[in-house]
Amino acid sequence: MKRTPIAAGNWKLNNTIAQTTQYFKDLLIHKHTIRDCEVIIAPVALSLPAAAEAVKGSYLQLSAQNCYHKNSGAFTGELSPALIKDAGAYYSLVGHSERRTYFKENDKDFSLKNKALIDEGLTPIFCIGETLEQREAGKVENVLESQLTYGLEGVDVNSRNFIIAYEPVWAIGTGRVASKIDAQNAHAFVRNVIEKLYGNEIAQSVRILYGGSVTAENVEELIAQNDIDGALVGGASLTPAKFIPIINAIEVSGKGQ
Ligand code: PGA
Repeated sequence: MKRTPIAAGNWKLNNTIAQTTQYFKDLLIHKHTIRDCEVIIAPVALSLPAAAEAVKGSYLQLSAQNCYHKNSGAFTGELSPALIKDAGAYYSLVGHSERRTYFKENDKDFSLKNKALIDEGLTPIFCIGETLEQREAGKVENVLESQLTYGLEGVDVNSRNFIIAYEPVWAIGTGRVASKIDAQNAHAFVRNVIEKLYGNEIAQSVRILYGGSVTAENVEELIAQNDIDGALVGGASLTPAKFIPIINAIEVSGKGQ
């Protein structure tokens, strides 16, 4: 089954509003068209309106990095799915390992966020992945199955309104990318779990991105794996000069044709 691949960038807490506008200008000067690939970038939330202005009419799409599950109310400091959409973004990361580790978010939070985003017509990019300790203890499959089962509890997904990112925690920001075999095995397992939860059709069409120390040097062999449908890129998405070769490699992988 054809799955249009995705090159996604997660900027985390980097870039000012002015730098955000400049980044998109530079990126679009050097890469103004795209074929058979989607490109989604998640800047800091406060920069989304400026980013939306900068990418208007182009192939670039925007994502938030996090959201709350309510659209309004007494929730100081939070960001709603409705506001994300209002700002011009149609995706949001959910469950990034930094949200799990530093902000103590859990499966219940993620299922509420996934549901709220889908209800608002937005697409969650639901991030899952094991720690090094869990990998060394042989628990990768248990961890992934549990994160998916509970993080998607009560969430009515279809393959169009939902993206998964497999990001082994030990590979994020460490320069230590998963081997293509470990990554492929994890992705195939994730697809099997999705099949159990939602059936074969959704499992075969849902996009599963790999994240964790993706660079222009390793993206080609990752995207060549059967069940890897793109990349979620942190550090290497922060400058167009590093991100464009990654987009190009995913674009020419032929997966979207
Ligand atoms: P990295 O981050 O590419 O810098 O490892 C990936 C991520 O956190 O999504």
